[in-house]
Amino acid sequence: MAPPSPQKASGSDRPCPSISDACVKGLLASRGRLPYVGAMDHRSGPLDDTARGRLTKDGIRIYEASDFTGMDAAGALAARILDDIAPLVYPGQTTGAIDAAIEAMVEEAGATSATIGYKGYQHASCISVNHVVCHGIPGEKKLKDGDILNVDVTVIVDGWYGDTSRMYVAGDIGRKAERLVQVTHDALMKGIEAVKPGRTFGDIGHAIQAYVEAHRMSVVRDFCGHGLGRVFHAPPNVLHYGRPGTGPVLEEGMFFTIEPMVNLGRPETKVLADEWTAVTRDKSLSAQFEHSVGVTAEGAHIFTLSPAGKFHPTWG
Ligand code: MF3
Ligand code: CO
Ligand code: CO
Repeated sequence: MAPPSPQKASGSDRPCPSISDACVKGLLASRGRLPYVGAMDHRSGPLDDTARGRLTKDGIRIYEASDFTGMDAAGALAARILDDIAPLVYPGQTTGAIDAAIEAMVEEAGATSATIGYKGYQHASCISVNHVVCHGIPGEKKLKDGDILNVDVTVIVDGWYGDTSRMYVAGDIGRKAERLVQVTHDALMKGIEAVKPGRTFGDIGHAIQAYVEAHRMSVVRDFCGHGLGRVFHAPPNVLHYGRPGTGPVLEEGMFFTIEPMVNLGRPETKVLADEWTAVTRDKSLSAQFEHSVGVTAEGAHIFTLSPAGKFHPTWG
């Protein structure tokens, strides 16, 4: 995810005007210190990405049909890692141990973690428990029965980025938490269903927002999805709220994430002193699901589908 506006958006409905003051997840935490990463691969230096495809007037890269293959491989690895950590989520487990397993799996696959070293971040995942909205730092704290957590993994395979996250439960889930997780999952799917060439990013945001608010929950404004491909975070800012027909027009060959964060209470967030961890201001529970997708003539092609069909926790 990415913070939608550098002014910390603070619940304002004003969309991020441009990627230079972008909605790139991670930017919020580093606001004022680090510029947008742009077409620089933080792991390996400048990329020859300009040679690839073309840019729309909104600065969104249009990839070629053969590029979907590269994204499929990266997306499948990230999704498989999320499948494989499911048995590690239980009461008494630490989020640090889950992250260590993820780091080992990335290495085992001969891939690279996109998050280790990203703007100083030191882990192979973000693990966000209960009222943590996103960018939770794995550590020694033990999970308790009933905790809900998002695990977010981004890997680089042959230069392609696969970025996905999903929710897990330690032990038995409570009724309210279960509703939140279900609505958040279904909201992501509503957003994905809105992806069609000729429609707009506002249509995606609207589909998500309308669904979430109909269930009396709120959409986080302070972070959003992002373009990706040969880079981690690129235009556009994929807002999870909006008005139909607004924003850039979707075209075949666009690659981006959709990653709504939904709160049981109010949408406002704050970032803790560690400069990463984003929490709900009202301490209400928060959930998130994320897929990386590519636009085809038919709609969204999901790069990060779970090989084991375990994207949703109650299916696993
Ligand atoms: N994977 C996150 C996203 O969805 C970004 C995490 S950046 C990190 O965009 F540095 F916090 F890991
Ligand atoms: Co993302
Ligand atoms: Co992510």
